[in-house]
Amino acid sequence: MTLNKPSVIVTRKLPEAVETRMMELFDVRLNADDTPFDREALGNALASCDVLVPTLTDTLDGDLLSASGISARLISNFGNGTDHIDVVAAQTAGIAVTNTPDVLTEDTADMAMALIVAVPRRLVEGARIIKEDRFTGWSPTHMLGRRMSGKRLGIIGMGRIGFAVAKRARGFGMTAHYHNRHRLLPEIEQEVEATYWESLDQMLARMDVISIHCPHTPATFHLLSERRLKLLKEDAYIVNVARGEIVDEDALIRMLETGALAGAALDVFEHEPAVNPKLLALDNVTLLPHMGSATIEGRVAMGEKVIINIKAFVDGHRPPDRVLPS
Ligand code: DGY
Repeated sequence: MTLNKPSVIVTRKLPEAVETRMMELFDVRLNADDTPFDREALGNALASCDVLVPTLTDTLDGDLLSASGISARLISNFGNGTDHIDVVAAQTAGIAVTNTPDVLTEDTADMAMALIVAVPRRLVEGARIIKEDRFTGWSPTHMLGRRMSGKRLGIIGMGRIGFAVAKRARGFGMTAHYHNRHRLLPEIEQEVEATYWESLDQMLARMDVISIHCPHTPATFHLLSERRLKLLKEDAYIVNVARGEIVDEDALIRMLETGALAGAALDVFEHEPAVNPKLLALDNVTLLPHMGSATIEGRVAMGEKVIINIKAFVDGHRPPDRVLPS
């Protein structure tokens, strides 16, 4: 595709600097009031632009992408995860897909590390005691949590974010362990002194904290199934800043309710944006509204990536962040 000013539809409100640059470069339709597109609006958008810029709140499934009359040739996703897009259907329909990797690695790893500390050290519970004016003074047995130093962190998915979490965890005196589709090169493993576990089951049974950093794909749906969750130690914690669908949330709730697991910190949910009310009732759980990568710097950098991908594509080059069916 070589176009002077491609028509671009953006489904959600983006940072001002990104929208301004897009208006300079493209014939762009923005979403000033940030109302999410429904299915019909998504279908209409695909049929009336050259480039669609969706986010993880837009489900672009096979039916939508195989509809007749689609004009879009590129889906330049504002986000890293592309599990809301049927990439195979897009390819079949002749639509390229790109995403925004790398630029949210550090922010997401910061949030994961914050949660890895927050749950065992009971930060949110403690803050609530102050807010609710229930602090009656120090006592030797009040609000006891668990020490981080010397604990084993099991990372599921040792891509960029998993590795960045391993680096941070070392600073807290934790040892890094990981399960990944492929083992890292020895020199990279050595950088964070990480131990590779080929068997996820075996790793789960020995960890103090589990942090999830793999993408959500058909192969990782309920990777932490009830059977696997039951392998965890009773005093273990789970942190998820990746995707809710990777954990069997009902099974996790049952275990948290019965004390079969010490606690969990979830930034993502299986039926997002719905949050299971049973989670809200639990004290040993910290819940966040999918804000792992939510920094101004990160969002602007994501927007810049979207723009670079669109520019490359419309200039007839291979976009740097092309996503291919796996
Ligand atoms: C992504 O880009 O996939 C993230 O989940 C957004 O925070």
